[in-house]
Amino acid sequence: MQSKSPSESLTILTDLVLPSETNPLNNLFGGELLARMDRAASIASGRHSRRIGVTASVNHVAFNKAIPLGSVVIVEAKVSRAFKTSMEIYIDVWIEDRESGVRTKANEAIYTFVAVNEKGEPVEVPQIVPETELEKQRFHAALRRKQLSLVLAGKMNPHDATELKALFT
Ligand SMILES: CC(C)(COP(=O)(O)OP(=O)(O)OC[C@H]1O[C@@H](n2cnc3c(N)ncnc32)[C@H](O)[C@@H]1OP(=O)(O)O)[C@@H](O)C(=O)NCCC(=O)NCCS
Repeated sequence: MQSKSPSESLTILTDLVLPSETNPLNNLFGGELLARMDRAASIASGRHSRRIGVTASVNHVAFNKAIPLGSVVIVEAKVSRAFKTSMEIYIDVWIEDRESGVRTKANEAIYTFVAVNEKGEPVEVPQIVPETELEKQRFHAALRRKQLSLVLAGKMNPHDATELKALFT
């Protein structure tokens, strides 16, 4: 299977924040943003694998900045690393100023998707070759994030999480 670059899976969702999508402070409701990020990640995983992608885990979400009603929100998702059947998807969320067009980073998140066949069984995916400096950083850190996610899910013995343990030694 031929390797791919992260940019081949780049998925950009641009949408407004409408009144029905806000919390009582008139900012974007967290669950709405999670859903938008999940959609973008699903498309990115499909562009990389050309298979059905299912969300296996939400590894990290940082709601650093509230997103006010009426904002233009840009959700950018790319596969940062592929393993055997799973893919880490890195998502950056931006707010675009309507007048100046300037983008401000609002949030980021990391999801894990698994490529499956029509029976829902995991299938192999192409590997990733990172190109930019940021893609290389995200690629190299992805293995310890996968190990952390598996340990927290009770699917990996912490003693086997060598990459993760190396952080503390
Ligand atoms: C995700 C799913 C396909 C994994 O199936 P499984 O039988 O556990 O398969 P495996 O144990 O072989 O795991 C498949 C891959 O997922 C990875 N994985 C599983 N759980 C994970 C987790 N919590 N975090 C990170 N990776 C995970 C495994 O490490 C493996 O990766 P690899 O092949 O790249 O090494 C299965 O659990 C599933 O269908 N879950 C429901 C998905 C869904 O409906 N999502 C929408 C939520 S409503």
